[in-house]
Amino acid sequence: MNAAHPDESPYIKFQAHGITSSLFKADPGLASFGSVLPTADQPAGGPLIMRQGLLWLSEQRRAFNFVRRNRLARKFASRFVAGETIEEAVRAARDLATKSITSSLDLLGESVTVESDAIAARDQYLTMLDRMAAAGEEVNVSVKLTQMGLDIGEDLCHANMVRILEKAKQLGGFVRLDMEGSAYTQRTLDFFTGRLFGSYGSHCGVVIQSALRRSESDINDLIGLKARVRLCKGAYLEPPAIAFPDKKDVDQNYVRLMERLLREGNYPGLATHDETIIEHARRFVSRERIPSDRFEFQMLYGVRRDLQGRLRHQGFNMRVYIPFGTQWYPYLMRRLAERPANIVFILGNLIRESVPGR
Ligand code: FDA
Repeated sequence: MNAAHPDESPYIKFQAHGITSSLFKADPGLASFGSVLPTADQPAGGPLIMRQGLLWLSEQRRAFNFVRRNRLARKFASRFVAGETIEEAVRAARDLATKSITSSLDLLGESVTVESDAIAARDQYLTMLDRMAAAGEEVNVSVKLTQMGLDIGEDLCHANMVRILEKAKQLGGFVRLDMEGSAYTQRTLDFFTGRLFGSYGSHCGVVIQSALRRSESDINDLIGLKARVRLCKGAYLEPPAIAFPDKKDVDQNYVRLMERLLREGNYPGLATHDETIIEHARRFVSRERIPSDRFEFQMLYGVRRDLQGRLRHQGFNMRVYIPFGTQWYPYLMRRLAERPANIVFILGNLIRESVPGR
């Protein structure tokens, strides 16, 4: 399968805490959800430069080849990526299931430009669905339309999605269309509502990003359709004309859209690790008497495992997005870029686990 070649990615200007940086690339690979917005515990400045370095490294194929062969690096990656094979991903889902946490499996890779790669990715998804069912797990996957060949042709993408959705339907499963960069927002929504929703509406859903200015109107439409929505902040570098440049506005919009979805949406997925927002959601549902089986929290594999467990323990539905596959290197680098403190954290864990007798 082809990951987008780094040099194909256009440069984009990105406003971060007043600093306009053209060093970031609008890499379609950011689809693997490395948030590039500055976070509260990671303001611009030194960490911004570190993030730029990590994002640059994420695009270096030679670094990937080196890292992929390195045992320590593979162990490092295993914090955020379940492995390279379907078996490893299903095992991770089974482990989570022992804690009553559900999963959504994601085969890493996107922006496919060769038909045989799109078909190979589709076949992997079909196997994933079967293996989840065989393991007795709830069948749930997340997929990117560009991985299914959207850029090659809509009919190819549609044929691939129909195969996946037919199987998901047969197994009582669910397929989430991940949301990619803004160049794909309208196409993804049109594809979802126009080509998939009619036949597979109860087996597929879509993602909305609170970073985008248009999202309120998209949420209105999706609520009208009773479509299932996952709400996230958005992982892409977008120009200010399209997206809120200020993280504060992205967060505020998240809360606004979340409240609407909680009140009127069809089993929304609240995808965030933001404790303030999660706390807001908890208070909101309690005040509005919204039962906890009407929505779920969603988080990424390896991120805030403490919070995942805590929320589940408090009786909330929790789903973890489990990425796996050979394209793990860019995903890992973006996780680290998102929060460079993870490097220290993971190194500390590795050292502790490698010291005998501990
Ligand atoms: P934010 O980035 O503000 O982080 C809030 C806090 O969470 C941080 O302060 C930190 O404590 C913690 N945190 C966040 N990331 C961390 C990390 N890597 N390591 C440790 N702590 C971390 N995006 C997209 O564009 N399209 C999509 O389809 C999806 N799909 C998706 C599914 C799921 C299940 C999740 C959880 C996320 C996505 N995303 C996504 C990614 C999303 O848009 C966003 O980039 C990340 O979730 C980070 O944003 P937060 O909401 O966590 O907030």
